[in-house]
Amino acid sequence: MLGLGALAAPAAAQGSLNLYCSAQVEWCQAAANAFAKETGIRVSMSQKGSGEVLAQIRAEAQNPRGDIWYGGTGDPHLQAAEDNLTAEYRSPMLDQLYDWAQKQARDSQYRTVGIYAGALGFGFNTELLARRNITPPACWRDLLTPPFRNEIQMANPQSSGTAYVMIATMVQVMGEEAAFDYLKQLHRNINAYPRSGTAPVKAVARGETGVSISFVHDVVTERLGGFPAQFALPCEGTGYEIGSMSIIRGSRNERNARRFYDWALTPAAQQIGAEAKSFQTPSNRSTPVPAEAPQMSQIRLIDYDFAKYGTSAERRRLIERWDREVNSLPR
Ligand code: G6P
Repeated sequence: MLGLGALAAPAAAQGSLNLYCSAQVEWCQAAANAFAKETGIRVSMSQKGSGEVLAQIRAEAQNPRGDIWYGGTGDPHLQAAEDNLTAEYRSPMLDQLYDWAQKQARDSQYRTVGIYAGALGFGFNTELLARRNITPPACWRDLLTPPFRNEIQMANPQSSGTAYVMIATMVQVMGEEAAFDYLKQLHRNINAYPRSGTAPVKAVARGETGVSISFVHDVVTERLGGFPAQFALPCEGTGYEIGSMSIIRGSRNERNARRFYDWALTPAAQQIGAEAKSFQTPSNRSTPVPAEAPQMSQIRLIDYDFAKYGTSAERRRLIERWDREVNSLPR
């Protein structure tokens, strides 16, 4: 007994960390394990969509249970910053990051920071589409055509940051009224709006749906898993995410949260993503970009206005409008 107690003591002295994670669960788990191993800090991890973690942090604001929120799309992290749910922290690692990641920090008064970037597009099941004689989609407008009736999945924007990036992208590509017209027409071709941002591409991989609206790096994960999944980038241009990280305000383990934060911005920690088959573009300039990652510089990206679409009022308003005017329509 005594011996065991003595062995456990150094680890216990390091305390614990409650990690809320909105990246792919394999990456979340690998990062939690690596950090625990390196520091002796006990890490408990729970994985949820970006919109779900935001709702949880808000619900727990008087009595925070989480310490750090790792990964997930940037807009809800910016909203959390504005709503005073996350804490200011200027990591000494900041100047090692690409400007897009530092800008995320500046825009939020240093309450969040970019950890990766990834572009939005389409995933599709090559075998299923070939069998049904459907040409894979190349443009946003293709998704409205009859061959895709009941053939498309996108996530629900209330829980999924991915789906919100899609709505904000359409608003920026077409203007808001045309974007809502588009979303209403698209609704007829959608067979489900699952909770998680990666559920649609997993359904594509299993042949349950022909097409998904997804981050294209998530399609690469499925393809490397052996599934007949390919991606396409919309011809009209597309939006992207700055996957982010924030310390929860009132965290009971703030020292450990800061330690995780600094660690997560190192090249060694950022490479865990690719090892866990997540192929975003990492934010530290010295982290190698995985060979499998879609090349961001080759993609026709819109100038996504993170400051605007990450504001609390705008994000809330667009999601409510989608729920009222699109989600409620019969299909
Ligand atoms: C996947 C992607 C991440 C993205 C996250 C958002 O894990 O690999 O790049 O940030 O989805 O998840 P959500 O469920 O909020 O759409």
